[in-house]
Amino acid sequence: MLGSILVLNDRGGVGKTLLSHHLLAGALLEAMPLRVVEYEVNERLARLFGPELVEHRRISQDFANLMGTGGDGFFEFWDQIGPELQRGGRLFDFGGNISQWFFNWAEVSGLDYYVGDGSRLTFMVPVTVDLASLQTGMATLERVAVIAPGAKRVLVENGCSGPFSQLEESHYAKRKAEMVERENVTVIGMPACTAPAWARLTGHRLDQVVAMTRDDLVKLGMSPPVASRSLIVIHEWLRSMNMALTPFLTDMFRATQPGAAKAPGKTIKAKVN
Ligand SMILES: Nc1ncnc2c1ncn2[C@@H]1O[C@H](COP(=O)(O)OP(=O)(O)O)[C@@H](O)[C@H]1O
Ligand SMILES: [Mg+2]
Repeated sequence: MLGSILVLNDRGGVGKTLLSHHLLAGALLEAMPLRVVEYEVNERLARLFGPELVEHRRISQDFANLMGTGGDGFFEFWDQIGPELQRGGRLFDFGGNISQWFFNWAEVSGLDYYVGDGSRLTFMVPVTVDLASLQTGMATLERVAVIAPGAKRVLVENGCSGPFSQLEESHYAKRKAEMVERENVTVIGMPACTAPAWARLTGHRLDQVVAMTRDDLVKLGMSPPVASRSLIVIHEWLRSMNMALTPFLTDMFRATQPGAAKAPGKTIKAKVN
């Protein structure tokens, strides 16, 4: 049984899609057969990586309205995720503010039939320093513990809208410390990418950005010195994200017997390059 990763927090702009992108790029570089399901209004990763690697499930306005009604279509939509989580090997990027509906579905639909206590699931919750994202992020981590008590929970502190050091004395910091000490929550950082080239690279695949040269950046319109400095920053950023994320991917593709989720299994990680 392979693991699954779910990336969620019902706030836009906290870095869910960027984190999912890092994970998919990391998996491709390590030759791991990760597939992504992207729930979004407009496709982002599907456009970059193509339908073989990323399936786009569109969240239209009609569809969002359906979610709130809890009618038949609502349950049918979510029922397909049970067998997908059981099979594993996928990452779900829950955009479009739909993760609340996933929890509503899971709470009454017997998620444990498919995933047991959830020990093969990893829930990653990106937050930025803004209060709303911290609140929905912490609430998300708490809801995960209810539907999948054995799941790994990862709080991803995204530094793109300010440093987390400014929150040291906050309610958030206290609750986080408690979760880390007593509830097995892991915290990783996603630093802001400060390279001047970053804005020009957001439409590129990170598994290709990692191999870009100064000439490539010059072709994208940067001066050679700016290209040189950008490469240093981007490579360091990609390296640090890769170091933080690879263990979760490796764990996900560690084969286990169904029903023996904790047994040590062989890893199918194969290094290319
Ligand atoms: N750590 C970061 N460094 C640089 N840019 C970031 C970072 N986090 C987010 N961004 C940018 O902010 C925007 C919103 O992020 P996105 O991943 O789309 O958020 P979400 O999927 O949660 O709505 C994107 O343009 C993304 O590239
Ligand atoms: Mg997104």
